[in-house]
Amino acid sequence: MHALGVASEIFPLIKTGGLADVAGALPGALAEHGIASTTLVPGYPAVMQQLGEAAIVHRFKDLLGVEADILSARVGGLDLFVLDAPTLYDRLGGPYGDAGGQDHPDNWRRFAALAKAGALIAQGAVADYRPDIVHAHDWQAAMTPVYLAASNRPRPKTILTIHNLAFQGNYPSTIFPMLDLPPTNWSIEGVEYYGNVGFLKGGLHACDVVTTVSPTYADEIVTPGGGMGLDGLLSGRGERLVGIVNGIDTSVWNPETDPAIASPYSLHALKNRAHNKRALEGEFGLRREDGPIFAVVSRLTWQKGLDLVAEICDAVVERGIRMVVVGSGEAMIEGAFLAAHARHPDLIGVRIGYDETLAHRVQAGADAILIPSRFEPCGLTQLYGLRYGCIPVVAKVGGLADTVIDANYAATTAEAATGVIFSPPAADALLKAVDRTLRLYEDARTWKKMQASAMKADVSWRTSAKLYADLYRDLLRG
Ligand code: ADP
Ligand code: GLC
Repeated sequence: MHALGVASEIFPLIKTGGLADVAGALPGALAEHGIASTTLVPGYPAVMQQLGEAAIVHRFKDLLGVEADILSARVGGLDLFVLDAPTLYDRLGGPYGDAGGQDHPDNWRRFAALAKAGALIAQGAVADYRPDIVHAHDWQAAMTPVYLAASNRPRPKTILTIHNLAFQGNYPSTIFPMLDLPPTNWSIEGVEYYGNVGFLKGGLHACDVVTTVSPTYADEIVTPGGGMGLDGLLSGRGERLVGIVNGIDTSVWNPETDPAIASPYSLHALKNRAHNKRALEGEFGLRREDGPIFAVVSRLTWQKGLDLVAEICDAVVERGIRMVVVGSGEAMIEGAFLAAHARHPDLIGVRIGYDETLAHRVQAGADAILIPSRFEPCGLTQLYGLRYGCIPVVAKVGGLADTVIDANYAATTAEAATGVIFSPPAADALLKAVDRTLRLYEDARTWKKMQASAMKADVSWRTSAKLYADLYRDLLRG
């Protein structure tokens, strides 16, 4: 079986968040179930620079108004189609915006073109290539099933995975004529969404199956509270909405072999972990003392609830806990953490920015990782935390609730606990969770047991890749 993935980011070539990790790791996991994948990604400068040898396998004279080539390449074990369209992608900045973080005004064209190219590849644009399944990720790829459903040629089955319903790709109706869709697509059954064009909305209608990245998030998004305007449409999909928890690439995230960390360690040589804590203290200029270090590695946004951490950090350090924060995002939250660092320079270490290897060193050296998200489709940082014995302290939402076992009485006595879960995502509940975590830390035996249970939890793709493979096979059977 062959699956064509369509995604706007893919690790290790280009990453702003968890979507890249998933797009980068799922193909390898599916291969173990006899499913070959090729992923179509935009030819951003970062991607083009890492391509090495690539062959042009198709040329578009006019793909939504621009010239574009499809390149075929194999990079870091991934089979890729790269949409080489300099007019759309050869720009400074990240995948979605300029160097100042402003979204590009023509993002609709950049990602409609990606989707259209995906649809054309799925229907034979590349010689000798015909996928059985098309798997599109998030709004940036969501128009792929729309283009496929709108064509009256045979098409493969389509899956659309929602990684984050907060990003929907909504644009003014004036772009509709430029999307190269039949006029009938301007309808409730098509891309029309409250008088605008909705990329994600259109894709959710057009695809054969919708998946999202945890069962709890699948339940949340069919409610008015969690559906972000799409709950009606999503609940209409009934059984065709499936929640499958993300795994992680356990070879990239492996404390026994991780080249980014000072001292490799394992469940059986947990003592070595202490060297990483010392190294982390050094890297952040923290005062050397006995207490724990609690960490944040995240986009600093409202979704992630990190304003709540900023709000309580004075109270946290008063309790003898030191903190490290790695992240970037909203100026208010960045500013609040920088101010906290200025107040407590040797107790709160802050790095504003994105640093992949530092994320590994934090997971290896900190004692706990705080994830007070207001909503979280899956979340990967708690999975990295589990794998590295960095105890996750998480809000009871979405995939966080599905992947962490709270250290309540039953779980602790059964030695099954892997973290701390709190609710609601608010400052006072977070501070209570911090206190509870501190008490667990101070009971060295219990803490060790928790670390062991966390590190033993299966956070690999093993279970979830099988669920995707079964889903692909069910779809093909009709
Ligand atoms: P989201 O995709 O919503 O940001 P996830 O938890 O799914 O959340 O994935 C976030 C990914 O991005 C993780 O791999 C995490 O380690 C990484 N990450 C987030 N912020 C940073 C940062 N500032 N530096 C390095 N890695 C980061
Ligand atoms: C999104 C979500 C995050 C999820 C990731 C990968 O960015 O915010 O919860 O883990 O996608 O699916």
